[in-house]
Amino acid sequence: MKKALVPGTFDPITNGHLDVIARAASIFDEVVVAVALSAKKNTLFPLEQRVELVQEAVKDLPNVTAIGFDGLLTDFAFEQNAHCVVKGLRAITDFEYEFQMAAMNWQLHRSVETFFIMSPPEYMYLSSSIVRELASMNGRFEKFVPENVVPALKAAYAK
Ligand code: COA
Repeated sequence: MKKALVPGTFDPITNGHLDVIARAASIFDEVVVAVALSAKKNTLFPLEQRVELVQEAVKDLPNVTAIGFDGLLTDFAFEQNAHCVVKGLRAITDFEYEFQMAAMNWQLHRSVETFFIMSPPEYMYLSSSIVRELASMNGRFEKFVPENVVPALKAAYAK
């Protein structure tokens, strides 16, 4: 039984994330979307809501669940008995950061392997912060996020 973690802040989950999660779910038996507290990021949505938004967005993928975590990813992977971490690779700029994270995680726990899935061209330049910026300025962001995220973003910026 191969279990993988797909980690991120997911503030909020986008269609780019969903693409990575769905592709991971077609390869691994079980996928846990690991939603990081990411206290340094000063997120728009609290952890509990980010987890709920992911759970709703992945409800049609039977082998996927979402769980929040705080602390080191490798410790959480160990706790979850997951030996694989799957990350999306978008434009070339992701490479250096992802390379550093994968190398550090490898130093921390050799049993945790990192796999990369290339983003398709339509999601190459998508990010949660771009979506938040669009939403905050009444731009058309709807096609970049799962349906359930649309009202959450509208409500967040209506305040
Ligand atoms: N589609 C769309 N957007 C994507 C994407 C994809 N396939 N892949 C990444 N992104 C975006 C994210 O939305 C995020 O956008 P934002 O900065 O505009 O919000 C950005 O790219 C960075 O994403 P990611 O690399 O996944 O970072 P993250 O901040 O979301 O999550 C963790 C990083 C949680 C995996 C990492 O910080 C972590 O492991 N934290 C735990 C502590 C730890 O173990 N640290 C490492 C050891 S020192």
